[in-house]
Amino acid sequence: MKSIAARMNRIKPSTTLAITARGKELKALGKDIVPFGAGEPDFDTPVYIKEAAKKAIDDGQTRYTAVPGTNELKDALIQKLKKENDLTYTRDEVMVTNGGKHALFQIFMALVEAGDEVIVPAPYWVSYPDQIALFGGKPVLLETTDQTNFKITPQQLKEAITEKTIAFIINSPSNPSGAAYHPDELQELAQICLKNNIYIISDEIYEHIIYDDFPVRSPASLAPAFKDITIIANGASKCFAMTGWRMGFAAGPAPLIKAMSKAQGQSTSNVCSITQAACVAAYTETTDVISQMTIAFKERRDYIVPALNGIEGISCNTPQGAFYVFPNITALLGKKTPKGLVLQSTADFCLSLLEDYHVATVPGSAFGVEGYIRISYATGMEEIKKGIKRIETMVAELV
Ligand SMILES: Cc1ncc(COP(=O)(O)O)c(C=O)c1O
Repeated sequence: MKSIAARMNRIKPSTTLAITARGKELKALGKDIVPFGAGEPDFDTPVYIKEAAKKAIDDGQTRYTAVPGTNELKDALIQKLKKENDLTYTRDEVMVTNGGKHALFQIFMALVEAGDEVIVPAPYWVSYPDQIALFGGKPVLLETTDQTNFKITPQQLKEAITEKTIAFIINSPSNPSGAAYHPDELQELAQICLKNNIYIISDEIYEHIIYDDFPVRSPASLAPAFKDITIIANGASKCFAMTGWRMGFAAGPAPLIKAMSKAQGQSTSNVCSITQAACVAAYTETTDVISQMTIAFKERRDYIVPALNGIEGISCNTPQGAFYVFPNITALLGKKTPKGLVLQSTADFCLSLLEDYHVATVPGSAFGVEGYIRISYATGMEEIKKGIKRIETMVAELV
């Protein structure tokens, strides 16, 4: 019997999904688990979006659509990109995908060849290195720390570029750190990419979840020449609380979108027609759902950061966006839990926190850096307070 293709050994299952699954398992066993592991808003999809989906079903919008998306949705996205990002795209420069993850997957499928290098700042979102590796590419990791607020410097980028580099990926605001790049910082990084003829893959999925009026910009919007080398990946999951609906999109040079669309035509075909109709409403109707969600997230951020900093051995930067904090717990490594487990790594810390104290978090190693854990505050304030108390208890019990 033929063995499984070797390329499948280049990838591993998503750690964040694995931790969420273990948390759910424990919950099913009756344990009261604080869900700091999840990467999705705890809010329900807004009513006007659900209504649009119901209407689409009743109106019979239940058939195949064009592979890269309906014209209605593409036009809604073009309008959004104009209004919110000051970017002008045409229908052949945008496509609708099965989530932002799928947009990225197809970007890498269309661009990466064996041996190609893609520069990935770490901590990174878990799927980038695996998706790049699946297509034979080499993720070149640029490590950052809380000292630089998890942002790479232009010097780091310059030094990482070789003749094999084809792209640089940027995720601002970031999962897992919540850090965001100022337009001046982006300008410098984009200029380096332009000079070296490499693509910028800009993952903008958290663009709306932003605090303290931080000026979030797409690198594509900072100069016409940057737009020519940038591919945007984005989607409805986070900003409209639509993780289960599976809608993402990509915007970039027409030949690349055409290649991605060809791949989608031979794999998943169009995104669910009902989801697409719901997303037309999501992106065109003016509502305050995003700002309402962001107000709630900010309140939680403003509670959780000082609370974590109040625990001895933990220090936590203040994120500019998204709904994660990425505290440094290096000072706790090497200590022993009451059960006798010596915490050798953040994975050990997260394991004990989940199994013994019933708080689900994700170790920094899943995002390519040691010494930190990711806490998602996309959960209610009561849960957050309970989770912090349990972390406090765990830390107090370490010897
Ligand atoms: C940074 C980042 N990019 C992309 C995605 C993909 O989201 P989706 O496929 O639900 O659109 C996620 C989801 O966790 C993310 O955190």
